[in-house]
Amino acid sequence: MGWIIEENKFDSNNIVSNGNKFMTGNGYMGYRGTLEEYTKKELAACNLAGLYDRQGDSWREPINAPNALFAALSVEGRELGIMNMAPIEHSQSLDIKNGIHKRCTVWDTEYGKVKITSERFVSLTDVHMLCLKYTVSTERTCNLAIKTGIDGDVWDINGPHLEEYTVEQEKSLIKVSALTQELKVPVAVAEICERTFEAEESIVKTEKSIFRNIAFKTEPKVQYTIYKYASVWTENDGSKNVLEDCCLSILRASSMGYEKVYSEHIEQWKDRWEASDVLIEGSDEDQLSLRYSIYQLQIIAPMHSSKLSIPARGLSGQTYKGAIFWDTEMFMLPFFLHTAPEVARNLVNYRIRTLEGARKKAEFYGFKGAFYAWESHENGEDACSDFNVTDVFTGRPVKTYFKDKQVHISAAISYAVWETYKFTGDVSLLLNGGAEVILECARFFYSYAYFKEDKNRYEILDVIGPDEYHERVNNNAYTNKMIYYTADAALKTLELLKKEYIKDYQELIAKLDYSKEINNLIKFKEKLYVPEPDENTLLIEQFDGYNRLEDCSLDEVRSRLINPREYWGGGHGVSSTTKIIKQADVVLMLYLFKNEYSNEVKKANWEYYEPRTEHGSSLSPCIYSLLSCEIGNSEWAYPFFVKTSNVDLTGDSKQFAGSIYIGGTHPAANGGAWMSAILGFAGLKVENGEISVNPNLPERWKRMAFKIIVRGEKYLVDITHDNFQVTKL
Ligand code: BGC
Repeated sequence: MGWIIEENKFDSNNIVSNGNKFMTGNGYMGYRGTLEEYTKKELAACNLAGLYDRQGDSWREPINAPNALFAALSVEGRELGIMNMAPIEHSQSLDIKNGIHKRCTVWDTEYGKVKITSERFVSLTDVHMLCLKYTVSTERTCNLAIKTGIDGDVWDINGPHLEEYTVEQEKSLIKVSALTQELKVPVAVAEICERTFEAEESIVKTEKSIFRNIAFKTEPKVQYTIYKYASVWTENDGSKNVLEDCCLSILRASSMGYEKVYSEHIEQWKDRWEASDVLIEGSDEDQLSLRYSIYQLQIIAPMHSSKLSIPARGLSGQTYKGAIFWDTEMFMLPFFLHTAPEVARNLVNYRIRTLEGARKKAEFYGFKGAFYAWESHENGEDACSDFNVTDVFTGRPVKTYFKDKQVHISAAISYAVWETYKFTGDVSLLLNGGAEVILECARFFYSYAYFKEDKNRYEILDVIGPDEYHERVNNNAYTNKMIYYTADAALKTLELLKKEYIKDYQELIAKLDYSKEINNLIKFKEKLYVPEPDENTLLIEQFDGYNRLEDCSLDEVRSRLINPREYWGGGHGVSSTTKIIKQADVVLMLYLFKNEYSNEVKKANWEYYEPRTEHGSSLSPCIYSLLSCEIGNSEWAYPFFVKTSNVDLTGDSKQFAGSIYIGGTHPAANGGAWMSAILGFAGLKVENGEISVNPNLPERWKRMAFKIIVRGEKYLVDITHDNFQVTKL
């Protein structure tokens, strides 16, 4: 129970959303949940983590590798695909326990019924490997052909990204290799296809693709199966000869045989679930949606590399430029910290490795320290464009200030480093670059801040907070509070190093020329303005002047839209002059700093801001869920949990910002679902290695059980409505 995602009919309207929903992956690549005969038209893609390219002046985005799992059928010379003939039966499913995608389609043709079943996976054992088992049978004797091979004509948003293709066959192997346009990185894909039946096989080559045509005459009801082993390598993987490495990967797999490769892959999934499964009794739907959210995080987790992080749309394609946002630190990191600390460390290492990029960005804007990229690519450079949305009326690009003004990104990264250190107690993180990141972010904020003589305080002016609809505001409460946190973390880091690692301390101070900065930070922290709750209403004003904006309902604002794809924020958006916000902002601050605010303050602000929140970002509902749990109201929290944990199952999320496609998977919401369940309903807290739970399960849940890893020790947490237990394993 609770492990299969399934659809039992074909609806062409769902092709794009199913590509996200039925995705498989392993952190190295994401293979969209498309059917074997799909091409770039149906957005088939094998998206690679961390390898980016730019075509001309357009946005940089990650590469989609040539698709080695392509397979299409012809019956008596006529193509038979789901797009050219309606099936009489069709199912597509994902076994999230084992990371296996399946499909079964039956057509009623003039030659009788023809059936395809397929099973495929992206290996967890060898991250370069993809495998497909494809079986066809017919009701009557007929001439069939399976066209299968490597489709190099890939889907790109701003491509093409690959050039100088070489397409070749060498004995039983077929291969496609190419170079990326911008950095000339070699990318190769190879495939081997085995079968258990006699057929005539010929090779068809095009400029970018190579296919086998496997022609044979069927016997009624006999199953004809092909096994495909494919591999993807790029020079970024440390490969000296990408084609050779591809071949080694697939020859190894083919010598092991499909069943063995399959069972090894499943074993790995078993380990992943052993560490991360959450059992929910009382609601099958919630059980499935939460496991599905965890599955989504597992298939994009960079387990194999400390150079990678997780893009905001996971590995589901090129939307959002495949870039890394604050989503990773604030919404995904907690899951990994509690269940796979080595992945959490990889994610933080990515920010340590890209510190130089953040320094350059700060310098570019005339500041000191580290201003991290709003949309980060492989070396920390900012992929965020100056024009992130397009005006739907004029078609003109609209200047947005996300990159320039969402300074809270540097605070999110300091937060991630410091919280990871506190959670794991592992000082090596600080000593190996983590301390430098925090200090440089604090330095950036000090140089960004304004000292207002008349008010005798530092203010943070001209920023965008989490609510992106209100640009260039002053003293956004969330931002100021996070900056305070960063300054505090920097001072605590310095104190710790000075006390216990004096040599490292001295070296770091000398390297960063930081001695003067220390007094600056002490003063900064003391005099930094952080908006407080109003004495009467208990409300915290989201930013200076928010209270004076037009107070109208969400419906009212929505009714003012002339075009449904209109952008709500920025200079002319329908919500810019109103109190309607895009996503949790003050409420996020109250959640993160829950120990510092009373329940009354939390409640008052939740009640005030929730009706004014569009939840136009998938990052929003989980935060409302989490704060409701803090207030002790799991019934308020529950619908937000349902929303966040179902985001990629229903496909019910924004697909456009202006005229720009922003669809794909939503790993931050997936992480948010885990947080809502574990940190919200279970009320798990880990402080100084001490675990506490304060459960508040939704009515319908009878029991909840999960494991966590804290400082190398594994624990089982088991909760019912009247009891709970934390057991060291
Ligand atoms: C949200 C950001 C988020 C980004 C990527 C935007 O819509 O406003 O907070 O980082 O999407 O998920």
